[in-house]
Amino acid sequence: MVKIRNIARKFLGRDKIKSIGKEYWESAASGSVEKAMKRICDGFTREDFETKKESIVFVKEFQISSRDEVLELACGMGRTCRWVAPKVKQYTGVDFIPQMVEKAKSYNSSFLNTKFIVNDGRTLSAFQDNSFDVVYCEIAFQHMTKDVQESYAEEVYRVLKNDGFFFVQLPKIEFYKDPTFALSKEEVNDLLRKYETTYIGNSSAYHIVMAKKLNLA
Ligand SMILES: C[S@@+](CC[C@H](N)C(=O)[O-])C[C@H]1O[C@@H](n2cnc3c(N)ncnc32)[C@H](O)[C@@H]1O
Repeated sequence: MVKIRNIARKFLGRDKIKSIGKEYWESAASGSVEKAMKRICDGFTREDFETKKESIVFVKEFQISSRDEVLELACGMGRTCRWVAPKVKQYTGVDFIPQMVEKAKSYNSSFLNTKFIVNDGRTLSAFQDNSFDVVYCEIAFQHMTKDVQESYAEEVYRVLKNDGFFFVQLPKIEFYKDPTFALSKEEVNDLLRKYETTYIGNSSAYHIVMAKKLNLA
C-alpha cells in the first residue's frame, strides 16, 4: 500500500494525492531521521528541513511572547519547534504516531521548555480546558477526514484560553478536489464557527486561517 502510494506520489506529486493515513506516518517514523524528514516534507533534505521558512510560524500574524503556552497539533518531528520554543514559556507538540513523538523528543532535546505527547488521533484529552494561548497546525489537516477535523476544531476551542489563537492550514477544495477532506471557504467558516476567523497568507492549496477563540459563555 505504502509502495503504491509512493509511486503515485512520484508521478502525480504529493499535493494531488488523497489524504494519507496512519499507516503512512507509522512507516515514515520507523526509519532514520533523514527518511522521516523526507516523508514529512515531501523530499526535504535535512538542510531543507532545518532552514526552510515557508511555515505558518513565519507569517507576520503569528505573534508569540515569552509568557505564552503554545501547542502544536500534529507536530510530526517537531520541525518548527526550534523557531517557537526559544520565544515562548512552553511549547507542547502532539501527534498520533508514538515513533514520531519519540523522534520529536530526541530531535528537540536541547530545548528544555518542550513536551511531546502522543494522542488518539482525534482529541486533546491530555489537556485541561483553557490551557494554551496559541495552538497551531500545519500541513496536517489534509490528512484528516472531516469528522476528525471537526473533532479537533472543538478540542482546540476547549483547550485554548479565551481570546487565544488557532493558526491552521486547511486544504482547499479547488486544489485537492476530494470532498472527504478538502474544504470550501463556506465549510471553513462553518468548521471554525466558534472563532473569529481572518484569512492570512497566500496559497493555492491551503486556506491559511488565524482563528481567535470567541468567548461564547
Ligand atoms: C506532513 S506531517 C507535518 C508535521 C509538522 N506539522 C510539520 O509541519 O513538520 C503530518 C503529521 O500529522 C500527523 N497526523 C496526521 N493525522 C493526525 C491525526 N488525526 N492526529 C494527530 N496527528 C496526525 C502525522 O503523524 C504527521 O506527523
